[in-house]
Amino acid sequence: MLDVKILTAYPEMFPGSLEHSLIGKALKENIFKISTIDLHQFGIDERMSIDDEPFGGGPGMVLRPDVVEKALNSIPKTHNIKSTKIYLTPSGAPLNQEKLGNLAKMEKITILCGRFEGVDQRAIDVLGFEEISIGDYVLAGGEIAAQVLLEGCIRLIPGVLGHPKSLLEESFSNNLLEYPHYTRPKSWEDSLGKKHDVPEVLTSGHHGNIKTWRHNKSVEKTKNIRPDLFNKKEKKQD
Ligand code: ADE
Repeated sequence: MLDVKILTAYPEMFPGSLEHSLIGKALKENIFKISTIDLHQFGIDERMSIDDEPFGGGPGMVLRPDVVEKALNSIPKTHNIKSTKIYLTPSGAPLNQEKLGNLAKMEKITILCGRFEGVDQRAIDVLGFEEISIGDYVLAGGEIAAQVLLEGCIRLIPGVLGHPKSLLEESFSNNLLEYPHYTRPKSWEDSLGKKHDVPEVLTSGHHGNIKTWRHNKSVEKTKNIRPDLFNKKEKKQD
């Protein structure tokens, strides 16, 4: 069972989205468990502060390293020793499907959710957190990012998805975006009376042609909207 511990100033945000749909089912079936550690319990002084002003000036507040350490040390050692430690921050290494695949093989994950301007760098370095970003944009904190990372990871654990075969063809396997999908009706008449037909090849029953069509669509789409991904694919094949 994957055991996830979350260090956060907003424990009430969990399990949040992870309680629903297929991931929620996996939670109920004990394929993973999730518990939160409230950073406020480890605050200092009579106000139980967890943050302070940045040295060198600048806007916002920074999460104190001593608070992070105390919170981390409240987790049993048996968890900490084996656990992958992740700090979610927009200045981290970009999350990708390969990384999610590696995380899905882990037994223990500890996630530190940042708020404010960030976390004192000493806590990250000394306590061994890996900095990960879920994209080139800034959220108000790491809690939603943690749920994104966990959903992406948990769905890759064997037994979580109903159709494990679909994992082989989905976006980012092979550095390609997935081909487009179509379902009934075969000919859809929109509210303006215009007809839109499903590409003929998909209803032909010819598996070889369908496979080729889908591959070509994947390549075309990746080239158009993710040239960076397409170049990566080309490089890998050189
Ligand atoms: N916290 C705020 N923005 C974030 C991002 N893009 N990725 C991870 N954590 C974040």
